[in-house]
Amino acid sequence: KRKIIIDCDPGHDDAIAILVAAAHPDLELLAITTVAGNAELGKTTLNALKVCEIAGLSGVPVARGASNPLVRNREAASEIHGNSGMDGPMLPDPLLRETEEHAVDLIIRMLMESGGDITLVPVGPLTNIAMAIRREPRIVPKIQEIVLMGGGTFGNWTPAAEFNIWADAEAAQVVFGSGAPVTMIGLDATHQALATPEINERIMAIANPVAGFVGELLSFFGKTYKEFFDFDAPPVHDVCSVVYCIDPSVFDCRFLNVAVETRGELSYGMTLVDIHGVTGRPPNTTVALGLHHGKLWDIIIGALSRYE
Ligand code: BDR
Ligand code: CA
Repeated sequence: KRKIIIDCDPGHDDAIAILVAAAHPDLELLAITTVAGNAELGKTTLNALKVCEIAGLSGVPVARGASNPLVRNREAASEIHGNSGMDGPMLPDPLLRETEEHAVDLIIRMLMESGGDITLVPVGPLTNIAMAIRREPRIVPKIQEIVLMGGGTFGNWTPAAEFNIWADAEAAQVVFGSGAPVTMIGLDATHQALATPEINERIMAIANPVAGFVGELLSFFGKTYKEFFDFDAPPVHDVCSVVYCIDPSVFDCRFLNVAVETRGELSYGMTLVDIHGVTGRPPNTTVALGLHHGKLWDIIIGALSRYE
């Protein structure tokens, strides 16, 4: 079983990432850490607890992390995820509680106690991961892989930048420059991970409460993606990083140099992917440039079907 920690800002697609990770037999979900991103930290943490509760994940610690980016001011994505960060489904307040331990301390502790077999799966802004690397650099050789959702050869939140990188580009720069093995599941791949009407039907046919919840998430997410981006179906970005950990062959990847822009007036948060090797900078990132839609959804639907 591959051991993972999900660092997230739920978030509709973050929620699906948690649900698939917790149910898939090839993964061991060690912890969920939260960060400000799609909404402020209190909301993303509450949403993570709600997801755990609906999935019956009482054994997975949820640890609250950074409430603000390293340098820039915080900005949320309420246009896409609503004011709560996870608008749509009506869920009761959870009985589950977060841990006392700060997310950054938890990440450092679990990595330092490990035999180098933990994969970090950040699917929100990279603030917690950058803070952990700066606070305890000895974690770097302990990280098996960082499989992050973010970036791409084009943007969504600005023409140049994807939201997670744009929301804390300085943190992203620390992570890409850390020397840890980084895999970037960016928009080139995730914009192919569309929850089409046919996929929705398959999810509703699962007929368990978790799948019903995913259906409600996708219905809200589909509406905002139509309004804001004119997409006919919503892309489930974050679960792609989880699926990569289960079966990397779902993705078409290349090992390339990626640099993060932190100073551009128009291009802040852009990931510069050196596809043609023109910079002479050595490759530092496994970059996902595409994915196999059928294989991806078979894995997601298979995992969601395991809930009672
Ligand atoms: C990313 O931004 C967030 O809104 C999503 O949850 C995903 O992590 C996509 O750009
Ligand atoms: Ca996210």
